[in-house]
Amino acid sequence: MTQLIDGVAIGKAIREGLKASVDKLGIKPGLAVILVGNNPASQAYIRMKRKACDALGFYSEEINLEASAGQVKLEAVIDDLNARADIHGILLQLPLPDAYDERALLNRIAAKKDVDGFHPENVGRVLADNGGFKPCTPYGVMKLLEATGIETEGKHVVVLGRSNIVGKPMASLLLQRTANATVTICHSRTKDLESITKQADILVAALGKPHFVGPTMLKEGAVVIDVGINRVDDASDKRGYKLVGDVDFEAVKDKCQAITPVPGGVGPMTIAMLMQNTFEAANLSLNR
Ligand code: GUN
Repeated sequence: MTQLIDGVAIGKAIREGLKASVDKLGIKPGLAVILVGNNPASQAYIRMKRKACDALGFYSEEINLEASAGQVKLEAVIDDLNARADIHGILLQLPLPDAYDERALLNRIAAKKDVDGFHPENVGRVLADNGGFKPCTPYGVMKLLEATGIETEGKHVVVLGRSNIVGKPMASLLLQRTANATVTICHSRTKDLESITKQADILVAALGKPHFVGPTMLKEGAVVIDVGINRVDDASDKRGYKLVGDVDFEAVKDKCQAITPVPGGVGPMTIAMLMQNTFEAANLSLNR
């Protein structure tokens, strides 16, 4: 029987565990989320972040800027949030409209408030196994594996995708001494992809291509973690679209030892780990 990895339940348990710690902290963790433009998927994520903050008693603030606001305005917003004592975490929702210099903006967010783990200081710390904020999605994947009792030590984990948000930090976390996995990262230029993915004890799919991973890419008994959240047109759905992963769930599920669904797998974990990081940022601000 294939095990279904339930990110909703595991994410909820993490948030409930946090609630007790928040009550003891003595200050209200504060998260600021900046959205530039009106990307509908980003707006949906931000609503979920706000709900999670409300449920935990965090302060949350949304800054919505027109797509035309410009780099200088956005830099000023970040500088203001960096200086505020009531804001412990700052999240700049990606992707930004093309005109912006994303790297310069991520570098500008104070590392101690960088709850996304995208500032170079945190990227380096995570790679060096030297503290730092862990990016929420790969951090959530590690927690899913841990909560499900899936051992990573000595396992061959194949990561599909080399993004700064998921693929690269995923590899960093899997290499840490607490995980001890053997990691291969594959990407759009990888040759003979299937020969590599077939070696995976654990496959993490994070390439943003609906239903890309099919049964011929997996070995029998693999664990499959699907990070993809793709909107595909669906006239039968009242929204006009449905969410599908990077994995063809129905086609591969009987071949897997365990698999995450989409939705309800990795997605809820990203939010839970954002709450965890925001709590840690607030705790850090107390310097104790
Ligand atoms: N867009 C997609 N995933 C993320 C994320 O984890 N953080 C931010 N800031 N933007 C995203």
